[in-house]
Amino acid sequence: MTILFAASEMDPLARTGGLGDVVEALPAALAARGHEVSVVLPCYRGLAETAAGARSTGVRIPVQIGSKQLDAEILECTAPNGVQVFLVRRDEYFDRSSLYGPEGRAYDDNAERFIFFSRAVMELTRRILPPPQIVHVNDWQTALIPVLIKERRLPFKTVLTIHNFAFQGSFWAFDFGLTKLPSEYFGPKGIEYYGNINLLKGGILYADHVTTVSERYAREIQTSEFGFGLDPVVRENAHKLTGILNGADYSIWNPETDALLPRTYSPTDLAGKCACRNELLREMGLEPDPQGPVFSIVSRLAAQKGIDLLLPILDRLLADDVRLVVLGEGDTAYERDLLIASKRTPDRFAYRKSLDSRLSHLIEAGSDITLIPSFYEPCGLTAMYGLKYGTLPIARATGGLFEIIQDVDPSTDAGDGFLFFDATSEAFWDAIVRAKRAFQDQAEWQKLMQRAMSADFSWNHAVVRYEGMYERLLSGKVK
Ligand code: ADP
Ligand code: GLC
Repeated sequence: MTILFAASEMDPLARTGGLGDVVEALPAALAARGHEVSVVLPCYRGLAETAAGARSTGVRIPVQIGSKQLDAEILECTAPNGVQVFLVRRDEYFDRSSLYGPEGRAYDDNAERFIFFSRAVMELTRRILPPPQIVHVNDWQTALIPVLIKERRLPFKTVLTIHNFAFQGSFWAFDFGLTKLPSEYFGPKGIEYYGNINLLKGGILYADHVTTVSERYAREIQTSEFGFGLDPVVRENAHKLTGILNGADYSIWNPETDALLPRTYSPTDLAGKCACRNELLREMGLEPDPQGPVFSIVSRLAAQKGIDLLLPILDRLLADDVRLVVLGEGDTAYERDLLIASKRTPDRFAYRKSLDSRLSHLIEAGSDITLIPSFYEPCGLTAMYGLKYGTLPIARATGGLFEIIQDVDPSTDAGDGFLFFDATSEAFWDAIVRAKRAFQDQAEWQKLMQRAMSADFSWNHAVVRYEGMYERLLSGKVK
């Protein structure tokens, strides 16, 4: 099959979080199974210069956006994983310091930026050879593409994957004109929703199939609690919705081969993990050799991630001889609160505000427990990475986290993490207490680590499900 992925992130070319990880891994996993796969991304600042071998294709596509006609220059490069990537270049839209906006905020013209990108991709699909059979779009930034493809009656099957339902590409009605869609698309059967435009709604209505990144999240977004107002539309389209749990790319996330670690390790030889722990504490300037666990968080600092559940119990957590390392950026209020707290307890708590792949790997390897108190979590790749690195998650039982983690139950000798249900600091604290108690018995803890490290979340499972879904679409067997 020939498959074109359209997305706003792809690790390591451009990313803010897990979307980038998936757009790195899934196309490569499909290519490894013999499919012809390419990815199209916006040409963000510096990409044309840094992406290996980026070159102009000489193709300039005229794109209508509102009353303007602007050219999109198409570049081409090969991602480090070998996948062919097209870059849509229009510097006034994408040559900026951030992907979506500074300091966790959105650029004012994000509607225009991503409608431009979507229209450029739609035009590109008509020009590339061989033409794609499947156009697979991701999240609101590219959700308009299936609408544009249907409106033009182009012969491609389209798939929309929802990675995060909270971000829907909802903009004021005035932006409808940018799409150049006929006026009937501003209505219940189009991209209008409660007087605004909602790009994700358009994708759900017009994509031939919709997926989201865990089975549980596929059910959750049909409820008012997790539907962010768009749940009625999901329920109406549930017949073409599938939950497919993401995988972890073990060519990048594997402590046995990870070149970013000071020392590698395996379930049968955990000495390297101890070395990584010492190195992490040293590098973070924390006191060495705590009696209790080293906790960690690697995350975008957004409300979704449950930092609000952590802040009220931080002092209680750090009163014991434990350590905490947080790596993350985003909402400035969380950044400030974490920075202040880390200054209060500098020997035990280190906070780093940066996007740093090397450090994220060292943290996964060098900590004992990863904290994921998310209010909602479509998949939660850091839980998969934590397990693989023997870093047990304490997580809220929501979305993908509930599928990835098995709650530790000493009575049945099962489990590889600590789940809590209520979205309260007290419930979170109870799970922390359970984990600390388990950590005291180091022989038992080692067994837990080994169990966690043997869980298999490789892409092998998910890729077969995507492949089957594409095949059924092409054979006309499913919606
Ligand atoms: P989300 O996609 O909601 O951000 P996931 O847990 O699915 O959550 O994926 C997050 C990804 O982003 C992981 O690969 C994680 O390591 C990475 N990440 C998040 N923040 C940072 C950071 N500050 N530096 C490096 N990597 C980060
Ligand atoms: C989103 C979700 C996260 C998921 C990731 C990749 O950003 O918040 O849970 O793992 O996308 O699908």
